[in-house]
Amino acid sequence: MKVRAAVCAGLEEPWKVEEVDVDPPAAHEIKVQMAYAGMCHSDEHLRTGDMGAAPEVLEMIGVSSMYPVVGGHEGSGIVTEVGPEVQHVAVGDHVATAFIPACGVCHWCASGRQYLCDLGMTTLAGPMISDGQWRYHLDGQPLNRMTQLGTFADEMVVNEASVVKIDPHVSLRAAALISCGISTGFGSVVDRAKVKPGETVVVVGCGGVGSGAIQGARIAGARIIVAVDLLPFKVERAKAIGATHGAASMEEAALMLPELTEGRMADAVVLTPGVLTGDLIAPAMTLASKDGRVVTTAIAPSSQLDVKLNLFGFAMFNQSLLGTVFGSCSPRVQIPNLLRLYQAGILDVDGLVTREYSLDQVQNGYDDLAAGTNIRGVVKFDV
Ligand SMILES: NC(=O)c1ccc[n+]([C@@H]2O[C@H](COP(=O)([O-])OP(=O)(O)OC[C@H]3O[C@@H](n4cnc5c(N)ncnc54)[C@H](O)[C@@H]3O)[C@@H](O)[C@H]2O)c1
Ligand SMILES: [Zn+2]
Ligand SMILES: [Zn+2]
Repeated sequence: MKVRAAVCAGLEEPWKVEEVDVDPPAAHEIKVQMAYAGMCHSDEHLRTGDMGAAPEVLEMIGVSSMYPVVGGHEGSGIVTEVGPEVQHVAVGDHVATAFIPACGVCHWCASGRQYLCDLGMTTLAGPMISDGQWRYHLDGQPLNRMTQLGTFADEMVVNEASVVKIDPHVSLRAAALISCGISTGFGSVVDRAKVKPGETVVVVGCGGVGSGAIQGARIAGARIIVAVDLLPFKVERAKAIGATHGAASMEEAALMLPELTEGRMADAVVLTPGVLTGDLIAPAMTLASKDGRVVTTAIAPSSQLDVKLNLFGFAMFNQSLLGTVFGSCSPRVQIPNLLRLYQAGILDVDGLVTREYSLDQVQNGYDDLAAGTNIRGVVKFDV
């Protein structure tokens, strides 16, 4: 079948809608009519080359480049067709996407850590998980899809491991935003930093992911939540969803924290800027208290190898520096859980959507993100 999809043809090339060829779902695969796709910063990392499969991986899967690639990994939609042996979803089910597929049976899934599923190694590029065949083509050539998904398309054919069934009565737009950014931010605070009532949390970068982190801190019962962003409008938005204080930089936050915390500093610091660089680690560590946890959620270009860390202070203050993927929580648990918090009016999702775009406007959405005017842009499809 022919599907309209936003494709990036090469490094720094804009997202452009193309007619791509997609084969019907094979065993363990489903077809999904997209309803909404969120515009996470990670797709921008794909376009700029910050994020990509290693050359040896590309060689193994038989392509010379990450490009062309269908973008998009935040999303929600309705299942319209199922291939043979599909077990978890049926035609008509509402689903949210999971950018790390979860097989359910590998060591990591079986031990409750679906976010580390061994299928994750297939996500950056390559053919279908199910049988190693390419189901997507552009002009006869194999076509990659962002994280085995490609939500910037009217329809998707994906492995059932890449979707999470959701309540059909819940907003599909909220589900799209929760499918990556909000879950990742929320989990960074709640599941990774394990913030407890009364603690102090600093969130650096108040976009889609940071907005999930701030609300995770509020719902976990943090007493002080400092929102740090270069843009005043994002700091103000962060205050509307739970931040108790705002700052324009980590240096400014460092000056505020002693008075706010009786000199103890922050129990948890979560780094969610658009791009992570090594030079952000040292100032983040200075914001952290004794026994403080610093969580790096944002993605850094793979060229970032150097970090300055005062190893004496790190050990003597008993601090932790933690990475996280998907906020260290399992999509099949976290996405339905956060949707219930949304339905109960505890988690704000609608207030984070700055603008809805059509599929043809994906690049406009990323231009707006770069211009600093979007908390989250969302692609709306005709369902
Ligand atoms: N670890 C994961 O599993 C995971 C999942 C999703 C997204 N991410 C990553 O998280 C990061 C955030 O994503 P997003 O979609 O929220 O991005 P975004 O662009 O919507 O938001 C980033 C915010 O950071 C601010 N910012 C940039 N530099 C800053 C600095 N030095 N200090 C303070 N604020 C700064 C920007 O003004 C912006 O408001 C990205 O790197 C994304 O790829 C990681
Ligand atoms: Zn994302
Ligand atoms: Zn697994």
